[in-house]
Amino acid sequence: MFVYLCLTNFSRMQDCKLIQLPKIVDNRGNLSFIESNKHIPFDIKRVYWIYDVPGGEFRGSHAFKEQNEFIIALSGSFDVHIDDGKQKTVFSLNRSYYGLYIPAGYWRQIENFSTNSLALVLSSTNFSEKDYIRNYEEFLKTKQA
Ligand code: TYD
Repeated sequence: MFVYLCLTNFSRMQDCKLIQLPKIVDNRGNLSFIESNKHIPFDIKRVYWIYDVPGGEFRGSHAFKEQNEFIIALSGSFDVHIDDGKQKTVFSLNRSYYGLYIPAGYWRQIENFSTNSLALVLSSTNFSEKDYIRNYEEFLKTKQA
């Protein structure tokens, strides 16, 4: 179903978690859904998706100061690499009825996209470039405080 490689027991990392979503099984086709503050612990302010990713490419490589997010593989599969500044974890997403919750403050990179994969990202904030930390050294400094 999915691969969950927790490489550490570091407690902070446990804030990132896979969340199972409702799945209404039907012979006509299955249906899943998400409600703010019910299935995921934040208000959804923005939805975006990543698609047509060429083989071998990766996305992300940044952290957010405030944005909480929930990532679902609506189609296909990909790996989400999470880094809290000390420990690293990889989550493999490949089903549309669960996703990965990532609070603010984690370095994350998405890679190993399968052909025709579709990554849906639900965000707790509107888009702001100021919310990004794109420099890894700068990210590590925020973790030293
Ligand atoms: P970015 O978040 O860096 O992409 P990824 O993390 O998937 O590699 O965004 C890529 C570009 O798109 C960047 O110039 C900002 C812009 N963008 C928006 O304008 N609005 C959005 O909601 C998002 C997510 C990105």
